[in-house]
Amino acid sequence: AAYDEPFRGQFHFSSRSGWMNDVNAPLYYNGQYHLFYQHNPHGLGWDTMHWGHATSPDLVHWTQKPVALEPGAHPGDLFSGAGVVDTTNASGLKTGADAPIVVFTGTNGVSIAYSTDGARTFQSYDRGRKVVTPTGTSRDPKVLWDAARGRWVMVVWSDGGGNGVNVYTSANLLDWTYRSRYAAGWLFECPDFFPLPVDGNAANVRWVMTDASGEYVTGTFDGAVFTPDWTAPQRMDQGRNSFDGTFYAGLTFSNMPDGRTVQMAWQPGNRGGTWTGNASFPVQLGLISTPAGPRVTRFPVAEIASLRQGTTTWSNRTITTDPATDPFAGITADTYEILAEFDVGTATATQFGFQLHRRADGGHDRAVVYDRTAQTLYGAPLAPLNGRVKVRLLVDRGQLEVFGNDGRLSFTDNVNFNSAAGSQGIRLFATGGSVRLVSAELHRLGSAWG
Ligand code: FRU
Repeated sequence: AAYDEPFRGQFHFSSRSGWMNDVNAPLYYNGQYHLFYQHNPHGLGWDTMHWGHATSPDLVHWTQKPVALEPGAHPGDLFSGAGVVDTTNASGLKTGADAPIVVFTGTNGVSIAYSTDGARTFQSYDRGRKVVTPTGTSRDPKVLWDAARGRWVMVVWSDGGGNGVNVYTSANLLDWTYRSRYAAGWLFECPDFFPLPVDGNAANVRWVMTDASGEYVTGTFDGAVFTPDWTAPQRMDQGRNSFDGTFYAGLTFSNMPDGRTVQMAWQPGNRGGTWTGNASFPVQLGLISTPAGPRVTRFPVAEIASLRQGTTTWSNRTITTDPATDPFAGITADTYEILAEFDVGTATATQFGFQLHRRADGGHDRAVVYDRTAQTLYGAPLAPLNGRVKVRLLVDRGQLEVFGNDGRLSFTDNVNFNSAAGSQGIRLFATGGSVRLVSAELHRLGSAWG
């Protein structure tokens, strides 16, 4: 059946066939989430960029739609970009009942396309005329609504005079005024820019500037100029952050109905006989204060609950080196989610964790280990919080996402899991001592495809 190939994400979005790279113009309109993406429908490699399109009522169940932007029909390079809903018809592009959906794309300058029929069809604005033309190589516009100033903001990557972004503003989405340049040498491709409350406090908002590799700085924005809090970027995801890595080119949704900041990214590297690449699972972004400054958290959207197809829970178990203490013994699962909390403060185990897709011969496809001495989860730093470590795993056919302590750690990875019967075991283990499992949940996850 469709989507049933080995390594094909069952609850991760991928194009039905062909190549996908960056997520483009994620937005909410009229009861549906729209996801566009860099797409080559003619082959399994990067070529002839189109904008693929899919919709979802809930961010986790997806329906494929016809290609939205196509070379020839739409002028220019149809490279990565953003989209917004022009609710007030500031652009004057509205023709019927639907609010205009305005998308931004192009290389070495930004062109506009728009839909007046709720994203069913798109036409080019002014034959693809470039509405901004930064110096040097430029691409990947992101457009957002600046509520404090009541106008639109565009950030565009360019390498003119070194890597950075140009900042523009507009009242009508069509005419843009240059405001400033944020010349950060680290920043490369696919910027995103959004405000987030620190620790959920609406009175303490910082702006986050990220690039394709998920490197970011926080700072302030006065409507024209971004002023960073620090200069060395942090990484919001510990996966390999490159075009041939496992996490790249994340973008946040526009026009969210509930104020959440939700991000999807391109998860390069997974491929089968009919498709290449998929999107990472949608996450809600947050900002928490730390002694070193505000840090981004990434955590799966709550809607994941609607994929759950059966749940097993445990509480207060002591896991030792004796396999008889493993509560997962005898359980098999193909695509699933695990949430587990461990009492690290009282642990004597040097390491504990999960072996995923374990076979009868004792082998397994991947282990996710917490190292109590190094204080690392899956090799990335994660200190206990109040003596506890929380581990959350999303396990799909070719995709593994590891989250630690409510999204303080996020690691988007690819694993070619062997989903054959007999290769679907799970093992919770401890080495060198014991650890108390405070609680655990296993949820089998169903398919994203309607
Ligand atoms: C990042 C990227 C973007 C560009 C797009 C082209 O993956 O190189 O900078 O717009 O891919 O497909």
